Amino acid sequence: MLRVALLGCGTVGTGVLELLSRSSLPLVVRGVAVAHLDRPRAPVVSPELLTDRPFELVSQSDVDVVVELIGGLDPAESLVRAALEAGKDVVTANKALIAERGEALLALARSRGRRLLYEASVCAGTPVIRAARALAAGGVWRLAGILNGTCNYVLSRMAAGMEFDDAVRLAQQRGFAEADPTLDISGRDAAQKLVVLVREAMGLVVPPDAFAVEGIAQVRRGDLLAAREQGYALKLVAVARRDGEKLQLRVHPGLIPLGHPLAQVEEELNALLIESDGTGEVFLRGRGAGALPTATAVLADLLELMTGAGTMTLATPARLSIVPHGEVRARRLLRIEVADELRAVRTLTDQLAAAGVSLDHLSAYPVPDRGTVLTVLTGRAPGANLANALAALVRADLCTAPVRSYLLEELGEEGT
Ligand SMILES: NC(=O)c1ccc[n+]([C@@H]2O[C@H](COP(=O)([O-])OP(=O)(O)OC[C@H]3O[C@@H](n4cnc5c(N)ncnc54)[C@H](OP(=O)(O)O)[C@@H]3O)[C@@H](O)[C@H]2O)c1
Repeated sequence: MLRVALLGCGTVGTGVLELLSRSSLPLVVRGVAVAHLDRPRAPVVSPELLTDRPFELVSQSDVDVVVELIGGLDPAESLVRAALEAGKDVVTANKALIAERGEALLALARSRGRRLLYEASVCAGTPVIRAARALAAGGVWRLAGILNGTCNYVLSRMAAGMEFDDAVRLAQQRGFAEADPTLDISGRDAAQKLVVLVREAMGLVVPPDAFAVEGIAQVRRGDLLAAREQGYALKLVAVARRDGEKLQLRVHPGLIPLGHPLAQVEEELNALLIESDGTGEVFLRGRGAGALPTATAVLADLLELMTGAGTMTLATPARLSIVPHGEVRARRLLRIEVADELRAVRTLTDQLAAAGVSLDHLSAYPVPDRGTVLTVLTGRAPGANLANALAALVRADLCTAPVRSYLLEELGEEGT
């Protein structure tokens, strides 16, 4: 019988107790730590198990496994450390903790002969971490994911005609976004998840602030429509791409060809494409949040502890250098709002030519009270070249709003 201490009994903690109440797993909950003892709880939570002394609970001698479901770094990190130091295995759903402190905590777990499992921390019950680990030996060279359900829901609603602010409000009402959605909207949540996946799939340790991250706050409804007209869906993508000794890592709103399965991931769903030399493409899609999906992943980790299955991750391979964002060669869709269309088009075409960026498509739409919106599709070029050309446009005072630039993800069309 596995003896478990739960830290946190909010959305996920209650979901874990709910699933346990329906299952016959050989597992007993010894205590449930919360911040507020007097808060009303679901019927599935036994009041006699509650405590507001988490540090005492994690060091109890009748506990084998600590399940951390508090979130954030403090006190979650100290509690996980205390649990490992007290000789307990740990299961957590905390992506911030694993992305920011994963290496040190895994080293501590190893030094104590304990296990630290965290399947729920990325895409909840959609088993992307197990899949990434399982495929690592085949030489994973690309991960491309839609890793944030809030952003995907907001962009899906915008594609269906809603404005950004209304879509965020609806996401909050439907429980797909936090009261403060900044971590999601800024792209930082997806970046933390990408860091965890890169470690599992490629054996690489990268801090979440080591690469370019852009969220969806600047995306306009018209950008989604213009992308669709060109044959692309606009999504918040998280990409890791290995090319020899170089590694691209990025999170940003990007364009996916409409026929690709990633483009068809709608609403609050998450998805991950894993490409390796060994297996080619593997694609997973599913719910990335919610009480029961997340609790399912927590129970999967507990089951793994019970059955004793090992979790060897790939050793860190040779040195890789992260490609600076400006060096990433790609085609891009630009949305440029201008007052003087003719002058802007002339300057843009001159500057793109001077920067060695070809222009594959240009269209102009008049917008009442805002002048003209130019939609431009460029040829493949480094981001820095394009940035220089656009800077000249801004310097000439030709733009009436910040230029929006969306990288086009070349999925399934390598080298074309
Ligand atoms: N929600 C999801 O869909 C989802 C999906 C994937 C991963 N996760 C991750 O799962 C974790 C938990 O998320 P959640 O949504 O369940 O959070 P939540 O609903 O906010 O619950 C947090 C729980 O932690 C307790 N708590 C806070 N500070 C504490 C402290 N100092 N000592 C003891 N208990 C404390 C709270 O107690 P009170 O109840 O007394 O306030 C609450 O029960 C996070 O790391 C999150 O990122 C969540």
